[in-house]
Amino acid sequence: MSALTFQALRTLADGRFHSGEDMARALGRSRATLSEALKLAPGLGLELFSVRGKGYRLAEPIEFIDREAVGRALGPLSGRIRLEVADEVDSTSSRLVERAAAGAPSGTCLAAEWQSAGRGRRGRSWISALGGSLTFSLLWRFDRGAGHLGGLSLAVGAAVARALADSGAERVQVKWPNDVVVDFRKLAGVLVETSGEMQGPSVAVIGVGVNYRLPERVVDRIDQPVVDVAHCSATPPSRSVLLGRMLARLAEGLEAFERQGFESVREDWRALHAYQGRRVRVVPGREAPFDAEVLDVAPDGALVVGTPAGRLHLASAEISLRGKA
Ligand code: BTN
Repeated sequence: MSALTFQALRTLADGRFHSGEDMARALGRSRATLSEALKLAPGLGLELFSVRGKGYRLAEPIEFIDREAVGRALGPLSGRIRLEVADEVDSTSSRLVERAAAGAPSGTCLAAEWQSAGRGRRGRSWISALGGSLTFSLLWRFDRGAGHLGGLSLAVGAAVARALADSGAERVQVKWPNDVVVDFRKLAGVLVETSGEMQGPSVAVIGVGVNYRLPERVVDRIDQPVVDVAHCSATPPSRSVLLGRMLARLAEGLEAFERQGFESVREDWRALHAYQGRRVRVVPGREAPFDAEVLDVAPDGALVVGTPAGRLHLASAEISLRGKA
């Protein structure tokens, strides 16, 4: 995406008409170059009107992330986070994995207005819209070893769920292992990538994607039921405030995890689990799918399910509701 596209979109962010001539002059480019740059808008999930005699207008205003507003929402924990906001990267997690290897400090956070190749779990893509999603990654270092980070991604899911609930989203729950859902529809996803020595220290790159206000045409490209903050909160906070609250909840949760591991949040996680006691279809990585009942979550974050053959601890699998919710 060109820098000019983002400059032009910042002018158009208020959702009002702006004349092409005025914009081109202010940006020091020709009208033809501006028009080319704005042809990229639909690829960012945006709807842009171009009306002869009036100029350009976005169908919906966009709120770009404001670092100062994020800092205010973070409050006393702002000292734990070094926030950087990029207009565009391929994937905030890919960038932070590289920076982790190069020694970047704990608390480094990279948020992106747009990811050209956002990554989801299990090799899927993460689909978002400019201004309609919140996409960021947080690098966190632990003294404990990579072998003792069991349940970390569940703890992250719980922190994200709590931050969304603090922000007015209703009926927020988690789905094992680390989705955040409302009425069984996905509101946010978490991708945790860890590395380091078995005995420590270790590092995690925690990627979070939140559906904030997704246009219908973007929802149509997602292959599972989704919901966004705008539809489950009466007065949605700005994306900047939401990011600050999430980082505060994450910093608290990760510090507790460093001290006590998953035990620090296991009780809370159980209370948030939308699938507790439900009949589910389990799709393990390689073996055949089977039906089971969700019984519990183990101290290492494994899902405990009951089957006719007995209790099983699932370290990784996909689950979906079986029968009526
Ligand atoms: C999932 O599949 O549910 C996990 C989605 C994680 C998406 C986020 S968006 C920010 C960060 N960067 C990425 O490329 N992925 C994560």
